[in-house]
Amino acid sequence: MKRKAKGLFITATGTDVGKTYVTGLIIKKLREAGLNCGYYKAAISGADSVGESDAGYVNRIANIGQTDKMLVPYLYKEAVSPHLAARIEKNPVELSVVKEGFSKNAQQFDYLTMEGSGGIICPIRYDARQKLFLEDFIKEFSLPSVIVADAGLGTINAVVLTVEYMKNRSLPIKGIILNNYTGGIMQEDNIRMIEAMTGIKIAALVKDGDKDLDIEAEALAAFYE
Ligand SMILES: Nc1ncnc2c1ncn2[C@@H]1O[C@H](COP(=O)(O)OP(=O)(O)O)[C@@H](O)[C@H]1O
Ligand SMILES: [Mg+2]
Repeated sequence: MKRKAKGLFITATGTDVGKTYVTGLIIKKLREAGLNCGYYKAAISGADSVGESDAGYVNRIANIGQTDKMLVPYLYKEAVSPHLAARIEKNPVELSVVKEGFSKNAQQFDYLTMEGSGGIICPIRYDARQKLFLEDFIKEFSLPSVIVADAGLGTINAVVLTVEYMKNRSLPIKGIILNNYTGGIMQEDNIRMIEAMTGIKIAALVKDGDKDLDIEAEALAAFYE
């Protein structure tokens, strides 16, 4: 697909790991560096309004000023996986609608960050007519990814499984960001082990309550394709 914007997909080793928090920091950093950046998420579940969802949070924290509709085309109240929420609410995701929203954002912005739902394996729609997974969007929009993972115990397994799956599906990975970093011998070893086992760099470490990412805006912008 021809587009003006460069794009980046933010995935994670699971839900609640910090995709939204980190995405907010990424877009804030790039916008403060003067880059024209927007946010997009295909489907959000578990929110009554866009304002109180992931999209609303990022829109505010990074001071983007996007409209609700441009931030996210599908919003579900049920706090379950999008494919199930869509089934309960009888409003299944159409790839054409997600593509249209992406295209509009890609015309308006130079850097478009798309947040995933859950981890890398997330059914977005699963019915007799169509089966859509998160990775269908990544492929459709030819996006490289950054993986957000927890810095603590259990992260080696979660990160290596995610990376192996993505490599298997030919989904390019630009870097890994470890969240809730506190330091110490185990977390420092996690950094070394993850880099050694995956061949992918830890691009940044995010501590609890961080307001800034410890990576240069230029290096961050270079992840976008
Ligand atoms: N580094 C952090 N400092 C403070 N709060 C955080 C941090 N990372 C995540 N959170 C909080 O933890 C919760 C889950 O993070 P979130 O970014 O929404 O995860 P995800 O988008 O992967 O589901 C949110 O309430 C978020 O504000
Ligand atoms: Mg989120």
